[in-house]
Amino acid sequence: EDLAKDSGLANKRVFIRVDFNVPLDKKTGAITDDARIRESIPTIKLAVEAGAKVILASHLGRPKPGKHEGCSLEPAGARLAELTGYEVHLTDDCVGDGPKKVTHDLRAGQVCLLENLRFHEEEEKDDENFARQLAELTDIYVDDAFGAAHRAHASVHALPRMIRDRAAGLLMLKELRSLARLLDRPEKPYVAVLGGAKVSDKIAVVESLLNVVDTLCIGGAMANTFLAAQGKKVASSKIEDDKLPLARTILQKARDRGASVLLPVDVVVAKSLDAQNGTAVSVDAIPDGTMALDIGPKTVELFGNAIQRAKTVFWNGPMGLFESKPFSNGTFEIARIMSRADGFTVVGGGDSAAAVRAAGEEIAKGMGHISTGGGAALELIEGRKLPGVEALRSAVAEEAS
Ligand code: 3PG
Repeated sequence: EDLAKDSGLANKRVFIRVDFNVPLDKKTGAITDDARIRESIPTIKLAVEAGAKVILASHLGRPKPGKHEGCSLEPAGARLAELTGYEVHLTDDCVGDGPKKVTHDLRAGQVCLLENLRFHEEEEKDDENFARQLAELTDIYVDDAFGAAHRAHASVHALPRMIRDRAAGLLMLKELRSLARLLDRPEKPYVAVLGGAKVSDKIAVVESLLNVVDTLCIGGAMANTFLAAQGKKVASSKIEDDKLPLARTILQKARDRGASVLLPVDVVVAKSLDAQNGTAVSVDAIPDGTMALDIGPKTVELFGNAIQRAKTVFWNGPMGLFESKPFSNGTFEIARIMSRADGFTVVGGGDSAAAVRAAGEEIAKGMGHISTGGGAALELIEGRKLPGVEALRSAVAEEAS
């Protein structure tokens, strides 16, 4: 179902589930990456221009019961207002008398944003009663929160099943279409680049990627564990000791399946995370007392060559401590090479997407697709069904029958 084709939005209360779960600066509370807000604008705009009464809802962070501090959607609403010129009314809560009145009083083309859905524990419990309260505010349900589609939570799972008129938003459709190109017979050679801190976070995705990719490049801190598993001396580098056998198994599986795994051949090392400079050394000569904090230039070339030859590239996870200048080169160079590559390039959300945007607008523009979903993109790549998407699908199936 394509919202763009829907002409029945005028004067309807259109509930749009967005993912405004944006990163906030820990000290100032300012939004550090507003891509998720920007990317949700086309759907919001479409609804506003169609004369809908627009009700936006999202989660933000992982607030503990009763501890709402720093998790209000206020900054997200303010940013949306700034970007669109719309007046965005933030309600005091997402259910109850406040939102009932605000949504009742909305006029065509007006926008309100419900306060953080996770201020109610029932959201994460996929609670039917909570979903029903949201349903009372809603004539038409639109899910544009791709980033939250891997969660079976009330606003994306129980709620859509209660609303007859439901649809995927434009961002949701764009994400699913782009990521489908990685799942449905991707053009070969297919190269995946994985980084980030932990092997344990990526096991499932590594396992499933090994079935489809020709080459898997592993960088970031997770590469240290693989290097150690191969018997390299990684000095003070962070590794996951308990994952060494798993790393060996993964390397063996790759050999069995004919996929090549590329590991760093050089790394940028320093004595501490807050060092002002780093030194590139071979992985065979990591000095005692130092730790690997980025991939080195030879590794950039090695991974870069694979990326340039590929027809399909998927990247998730930074190559090093890119937030710190001396250790940002590997991540930014991979971004630059990918953005100029001829193949279809996809960046999985989270840190790597933020890194691509930090690398510059031109680089971001050169990517085939930058996903707004971190966990959601990875779960999709793993071949798992996303509860948020299934809820919409079952809706479509019910209607068809
Ligand atoms: C994300 O940032 O991946 C989504 O917004 C989901 O957030 P969560 O991991 O807190 O459920």
